[in-house]
Amino acid sequence: MCQKSISISYKEYFRNEGLELKDKELLDRAKKASEGAYAPYSNFNVGAAVRLSNGEIIAASNQENAAYPSGLCAERVAIFYAHAKFPDASVESIAVTASVGGHVCETPTYPCGACRQVLAESEMRSGSPIRVIVGGEKFTQVMDSISALLPFTFDNLPKR
Ligand code: THU
Repeated sequence: MCQKSISISYKEYFRNEGLELKDKELLDRAKKASEGAYAPYSNFNVGAAVRLSNGEIIAASNQENAAYPSGLCAERVAIFYAHAKFPDASVESIAVTASVGGHVCETPTYPCGACRQVLAESEMRSGSPIRVIVGGEKFTQVMDSISALLPFTFDNLPKR
């Protein structure tokens, strides 16, 4: 037997003080996108914005449906659209934020498990890490890779 452990590291910015300009810009785009959420069932409005290697920013929001599982999180709407529109570009970073009743949530909103898996595969496709920026009203956290949120990722990509 061999006892092992994993640790993750991330940066935390109280009231966004010291947040890098590019990250702040992406978070602002996510915040703006959350206004376009269609979330009549949860009233939880999420915005996500991805920055691509070609300089483009794609922002999106969660889209719900009366048949609940048919809805989709903001992160996956953004990332799938980004890959569909720019198949050759890689995702450099993603910012996520949520609001309820017009107020940005106090603490960050983290991508759900399914979105983490999709982000992980996007990272594997390109071979370069995706920076994750999760923003709340009180503080924002930044991780250098999706592996901080999803260690031991399922990977079924054909091995090169
Ligand atoms: N949601 C997202 O869009 N992203 C997340 O990271 C967490 C959850 C959405 C799904 C659903 O429309 C609503 O938030 C409540 O779960």
